[in-house]
Amino acid sequence: GFTPRVFSGIQPSGHLTLGNYLGALKRFGEMQEEDYETIYCIVDLHAITVWQEPEKLREATRMLAAGFIATGVDPSKSILFNQSGVPEHTQLAWIFNCVARMGWLNRMTQFKDKSGKNRDSASTGLFVYPNLMSADILVYHATHVPVGEDQKQHVELARDTAIKFNTDYGTDFFPIPEPVIEGSATRVMSLRDGTKKMSKSDPSDMSRINLTDDADAIAQKIRKAKTDPEALPSEPGGLDGRAEAKNLVNIYAALADVTPAAVLAEMGGLQFSEFKPKLAELAVARLSPISTEMARLMQDPAEIDRILAAGSARAREVAQPILKRAYDIVGM
Ligand code: ADP
Ligand code: NA
Repeated sequence: GFTPRVFSGIQPSGHLTLGNYLGALKRFGEMQEEDYETIYCIVDLHAITVWQEPEKLREATRMLAAGFIATGVDPSKSILFNQSGVPEHTQLAWIFNCVARMGWLNRMTQFKDKSGKNRDSASTGLFVYPNLMSADILVYHATHVPVGEDQKQHVELARDTAIKFNTDYGTDFFPIPEPVIEGSATRVMSLRDGTKKMSKSDPSDMSRINLTDDADAIAQKIRKAKTDPEALPSEPGGLDGRAEAKNLVNIYAALADVTPAAVLAEMGGLQFSEFKPKLAELAVARLSPISTEMARLMQDPAEIDRILAAGSARAREVAQPILKRAYDIVGM
């Protein structure tokens, strides 16, 4: 059997959002306290699949490290590092470029979304990025991958890659990693459009709550969030076909650590004009300690760099022997 081990990563591109927090970061801190070894990564190599201003990338890497720590990842309990600090990821990714099939990558919906109509001008890195993500996970023999719903297809590709490697080389060397997609906020939607996920790359700042937003900004974004004219129903079934309303209830539930049914049992019958201030109050109470702590940590960038360098060294201790055995299995 494999040691229960968690791996997950976030790209240092733009601001962290409430979606990143509820879909990923909040779970990271929780899983750290459960019976797993936890490894969390700032995936800078993924970020450059679309062009990044170098100084902004450096800044975003530190800011994301601050975000991990401020949301509960403790660098003494988890390994916290940046991807480019551990070359074993890209070394294993090359093997996986040779294991995964073109057809698998052609089916990745995120590539289609991010490359848009102009496929030919997308970077080749954007196309093969899922193989690097498979390597991120498997170079640690990670067994569990907490992610938001949008990453499910990539974790499935990592599973397929592990299975194909094991089959091709007649081994059971790689574990088959499980996606961990749990709770009411695995897909937080845009505040402006209930059909789009909340994303740090959305051009409209009103569409998302950033973890660095102040109380006024949070309250304003929630006040202006798109809803419908109906009151809150008293049961989750009453949210069917009401994407924006459902999203706000899911956000409330996740922030309060209760189920959507529990929220509606208490708040059913309220108008959104009454519910939104309650949601804003809860969001500010949960998020303002995070933004305060991020700002405090960002005052000492050298300390953040030291934490990441120490994390990278610890990560390499786990990754190196696994990479060595993988190359040996392949005949190198
Ligand atoms: P983004 O999609 O904001 O550019 P990443 O791709 O770096 O961010 O995603 C980091 C993690 O946050 C992933 O596990 C992803 O599934 C999760 N995540 C991102 N956006 C959302 C969202 N709107 N709802 C839930 N989880 C999300
Ligand atoms: Na994503």
